[in-house]
Amino acid sequence: MDLLIKNALINNRNQNLLIHKGLIEYIGTETPAAREVFDAGGLLLIPAVIDPHTHIRDLGQAEKEDWLSASKAARKGGVAVVFDMPNTKPPTIDLQTLELKRQAAKKATVHARFNIAATAHNYDKVQEILKTKPADVTALKIFFAGSNDKEFLTDKDLIKKYFELSLKYDIPVMIHTEWQPCVEKHQKLFEHPTIFDHNKIRHPECALKGTEIAAQIAAETGNKVVIAHTSVAGELEIIKSYKKKARLYCEVTPHHLFLNKEILEKAGNFGKVNPPLRSKKDNEALWQGIMDGTVDYIGTDHAPHTLEEKLGPYPSAPSGFPGLETNLRLLLNEVYKENLDLERLIELTSSKAAEIFGLEGFGKIKEGAVAALTLIDPEKKWKIKAEDFETKAKYSPYEGMQGYGDVVKIFI
Ligand code: NCD
Ligand code: ZN
Ligand code: ZN
Repeated sequence: MDLLIKNALINNRNQNLLIHKGLIEYIGTETPAAREVFDAGGLLLIPAVIDPHTHIRDLGQAEKEDWLSASKAARKGGVAVVFDMPNTKPPTIDLQTLELKRQAAKKATVHARFNIAATAHNYDKVQEILKTKPADVTALKIFFAGSNDKEFLTDKDLIKKYFELSLKYDIPVMIHTEWQPCVEKHQKLFEHPTIFDHNKIRHPECALKGTEIAAQIAAETGNKVVIAHTSVAGELEIIKSYKKKARLYCEVTPHHLFLNKEILEKAGNFGKVNPPLRSKKDNEALWQGIMDGTVDYIGTDHAPHTLEEKLGPYPSAPSGFPGLETNLRLLLNEVYKENLDLERLIELTSSKAAEIFGLEGFGKIKEGAVAALTLIDPEKKWKIKAEDFETKAKYSPYEGMQGYGDVVKIFI
């Protein structure tokens, strides 16, 4: 169906935009005929968010989230494309489990992509998947440390083999770089840990260690490697220096930018996440990375768990919290406060991810591109109230935060 979006601020000019069969057919000041017309009232139209890091949990953990609730949350947060992480029940480890995911994702109302688990046990299966040249598979995912479950890979020879596979099939590897032996070493020091020890158990040096290892192997191999949820100042230094000799990319989450361990007094386990919330100094270093270009894109690490689980004692409460509905708001508020350029926001939330993961036609507003667009009111006031979330995970460490700049509508 043809849709004409009239009177929108597009690439700094007030223009009209025609969508035909899911593509942008026309942008300009003329008013082409269309079956449906939407008056944008002069509001801002940007490429919809691409989120390469979400945990959707349909199938075996649908009580935490399913494709319908995740889609609603994504749409509310201005997100048109989500990459589903593989640490689900069942995990995405072979063609069969990938197929199950594809079936479950049929009820999605956003674009679904899949990241595949590259573990200590499924190298052949990963190869088998890649041989089918699946257009909906965006990355391989390696956990260097267990994160909620116990699956991790620290065998450097096998890591290298996966990197070589990544090069051969031109598909990025995303890495949770906290290093398991390091986490275990620190864990031993705490007999009765509380949430305030989370950042000491999953110590900053563990993320540094794994990021250094990933960067080294990336430089040797020449494949695309994404450091997921970069959280420590020193990781930025490592990434910056290796970018000259490796195809190394840096993902940052909104929570490592906007929150630090001080919030735990108030948020308790709602702020339990891996890697942990760090220090104010780390927040500042990540913002510096946003400004100097070291950070490539923002991934939400939307990681829903049940309220009941999160209200349990620290050791049993799972790590992770929802992020799809808060990310763009938080970033738009930085644009409102003139701390962040709109152009840089678009790079961080869509265009750079489209480039890294090869999502053709996404992440830009031009004729011929995919019509995945988010309409923004840059001055609309918001306040975070988790009970109003679309995700099933109705709690948030951002509870009560306020700002300006919000999503009005999404076109997918
Ligand atoms: C994630 C989850 O719940 O799946 N949790 C988290 O704290 N980030 C796992 C992960 O991405 O490490
Ligand atoms: Zn992770
Ligand atoms: Zn994650």
